[in-house]
Amino acid sequence: MTNIGLIAGIGPMMGAMQALGITGIAHAQDWTPLPANVGAGKSVVVLGAGIAGLTAAYELEQAGFFVTLLEARNRVGGRAWTLRDGDKVEMDGEETQTAHFSDGIYMNAGPARIPSFHQGLLGYARKFGVPMEVEVNASRSAYVMAADGSKVRMRSAINDTRGYIAELLAKAINQGALDQQLTAAEKAKMLPFLKAYGDLQADGTFTGTERSGFGTAPGAGVTFASPGSPVPLDQLLANQQLPLSLFEDNLYMQATMFEPVGGMDRIHAGFDRNLRRPALRGAAVTRIRHTAKGVETVYKDTASGVTATIVADYMVCTIPFPVLAKIDTDFSPALKQAIAAVEYDYSNKVGFEAPRFWERDQIYGGISFVGAPTALVWYPSAGIHSARGMILGCYNSGQMAQAFQQRTVADQIATARGMIDKLHPGHGADLVNPVAINWHKVPYSLGPWPAWNGVGPGPGQEGKIDTPGFRLLQKPDGRVYFATAALSQTPGWQEGGIQSARLQVTAIAARAAAQALVAPRTRRFAAA
Ligand code: ALA
Repeated sequence: MTNIGLIAGIGPMMGAMQALGITGIAHAQDWTPLPANVGAGKSVVVLGAGIAGLTAAYELEQAGFFVTLLEARNRVGGRAWTLRDGDKVEMDGEETQTAHFSDGIYMNAGPARIPSFHQGLLGYARKFGVPMEVEVNASRSAYVMAADGSKVRMRSAINDTRGYIAELLAKAINQGALDQQLTAAEKAKMLPFLKAYGDLQADGTFTGTERSGFGTAPGAGVTFASPGSPVPLDQLLANQQLPLSLFEDNLYMQATMFEPVGGMDRIHAGFDRNLRRPALRGAAVTRIRHTAKGVETVYKDTASGVTATIVADYMVCTIPFPVLAKIDTDFSPALKQAIAAVEYDYSNKVGFEAPRFWERDQIYGGISFVGAPTALVWYPSAGIHSARGMILGCYNSGQMAQAFQQRTVADQIATARGMIDKLHPGHGADLVNPVAINWHKVPYSLGPWPAWNGVGPGPGQEGKIDTPGFRLLQKPDGRVYFATAALSQTPGWQEGGIQSARLQVTAIAARAAAQALVAPRTRRFAAA
């Protein structure tokens, strides 16, 4: 065990740091908008109207640049894709699906939650007047389900496990097993804390806790409450999903989380509304060339097949790397190699419309973890007590998702239905209007996010990306700048796209400002 005495020595320092406000927060990156008019007389073409492209286009326009935003799809938002009734889902190698949803029902096929500390994204939502609501990312009534179908409510998984661990630690302290690690004074403080932490009996034993639910619920008159029996420790430990009871403690998943009312794409629509020149839809880029003074982009109108050319002083390219790798460019060989080498992760979602049977089971929002092959069941936060809702029967990533997307779409749907039925027996039959998304097969995306370190979102990637390719792509190629969440330290979050876009437009503005200083002198010298 770590020497707690040593850690205790850090205590006073941590206290001082907290007083200064530099630990214990999540983070929000500072951003100073570009100087107004720095872009006057300069043009930028922005490729892709996902969150990075929209941010770049908006901030550049605010700074006076003349911006053309090209988007291959007929909608803005990129992976922030909200499916509503009648929407088509096209995936490479699969038959087109059509979403058939009742009034008011939608599915966020891509991003679906925003942490409190993602102040860039929340700031734009505020600025554009996009109504937000709480995304209930965790419910203590949801379940962790073992592979054999046995399930434990989240409140029991969390509180019974904590009770047993507190009891063990109290025992170890009382038996003198930690005398090397703890001083007598620390032991004296630790024991009452463990009692509170684990809801232990006076003698330090754990016999169950009301935190995990009632045995007898408090009722009228003399119907007294009593705690239920704790789930036996071996049963908790046998549940492969038990570690997911800590999911809500992951910094990125902590309450309070948010979603735009009516679908994630409402924020992106807000950007587009606030652009002087909204995104040009159905404009698929086919060719990129450097010119003596700028960048030339050829794009094809996807409806008519007609091509057009745009020349601009600068380019912000937000096209996902697997898509960009297939476009005809004159980027440097090293850059082309770096783009082609970026490996993208896999991720799938399967959603159904259903009567809200989970609310009859006291589950209002949150997530049950069910393990492979579908990972989870995610309940809707919006529309509580309305007749029907959208329930997610699969959201997986990594190897699990790679294997899952190899199944037929029909099998994916049947499997997700089966997992929901295993968790909520009898309710598989309630699930209608399924839609399956395999992000690796979605044109113009070809993946949910890169797996820079060989892994997708999570502690193995977030905040720790530093490969030669990643560094190279941070730099412009001539007047072409790359902005995407993939080039941030949080590739699986929209905030990363905003941060990357802000970094690159700041560099473009600095370059434009420097040129504005140099240009008149050059002209004077030339005249002399
Ligand atoms: N941002 C992604 C999620 O919320 C990874 O699941």
